[in-house]
Amino acid sequence: MITDQRPVMVRVARKQVHSPSFASLYFDLSIKFKPGQFLMVWIPGLDEKPYTISLHRPTQFAITVEAKGRFSKRAVALEKGDQIGIRGPFGNGFKISPKSNIGVVAGGCGMAPLAPLVDRLEALEDKDIFFIHGARSKEFLLYPDRFATHRNLCTDDGSRGHKGFVTEILEDRLKKQGLDMVYACGPEIMMARVFKICEAHAIPCQISLERYMRCGFGVCGACVCGSQVVCKDGPVFGSKILRTMEDFNSKALLKSGQPVAIDQYASWRCQ
Ligand SMILES: Cc1cc2nc3c(=O)[nH]c(=O)nc-3n(C[C@H](O)[C@H](O)[C@H](O)COP(=O)(O)OP(=O)(O)OC[C@H]3O[C@@H](n4cnc5c(N)ncnc54)[C@H](O)[C@@H]3O)c2cc1C
Ligand code: FES
Repeated sequence: MITDQRPVMVRVARKQVHSPSFASLYFDLSIKFKPGQFLMVWIPGLDEKPYTISLHRPTQFAITVEAKGRFSKRAVALEKGDQIGIRGPFGNGFKISPKSNIGVVAGGCGMAPLAPLVDRLEALEDKDIFFIHGARSKEFLLYPDRFATHRNLCTDDGSRGHKGFVTEILEDRLKKQGLDMVYACGPEIMMARVFKICEAHAIPCQISLERYMRCGFGVCGACVCGSQVVCKDGPVFGSKILRTMEDFNSKALLKSGQPVAIDQYASWRCQ
């Protein structure tokens, strides 16, 4: 833990531009971390928002940001030497399954929390990974050269891999051969579909949820999803809890605390 309440100032050690909308920022700092955990990132004078740790090495870590709104556009524009504040890591992270046949389903920026999980799984010799990665188009497929594991790619526009959704590839695989555990992150509608498919095949899954966050450590209540506090109880939730989460793919809180339908929340977040 770096700190939970007061940000620690760190300088960008390196920036990697993946595409006009995605960049990874690297920091030379040793932190304790589990794949799926996140940091609260503070840009002084602007705001503070949660970003997952997308790469973890003994003395370095990175975050990957998709330029969407005001905050993330500023984050993507940071350069080597620029200073930001960080708190964390927060959240529970993914639990590594003791079993062998693992499915990983990444949609868009949902690749960021799954990438260090795949790094860990690849380092464990007993894991056979069925890896599905989808995005709007080929420019949005993150980390094309990072993994040894074969990726089943798909894009909405067919510019790379299968033209269609990650869930079609998952269903196709499960018709032929089972999996012991499925990990997923992406748009909530995609994760809800992954969960439904896994339930139909009696396969446990773990998904990483996104909600508006303010404190990051369970105090303010901004991120509640039903009875779960996403920043503290999650952001990763397993099948057993997902079955009880009525607000999953249904409702979320706006910054004001007002509960709205999930599609209204998604359009607010992506303005
Ligand atoms: C656990 C977790 C991990 C995440 N990991 C990543 C990641 O790895 N990479 C990534 O790109 N994104 C990640 N996100 C999303 C990220 O936190 C931002 O929401 C995203 O970058 C969009 O920010 P923005 O630039 O659109 O913000 P803005 O443009 O500032 O806001 C977008 C919209 O949200 C409203 N808004 C205003 N203030 C806030 C505020 N403080 N917080 C949220 N919304 C606000 C605005 O009214 C606007 O409509 C993660 C989110 C969570 C919860
Ligand atoms: S962000 Fe404050 S309780 Fe989760």
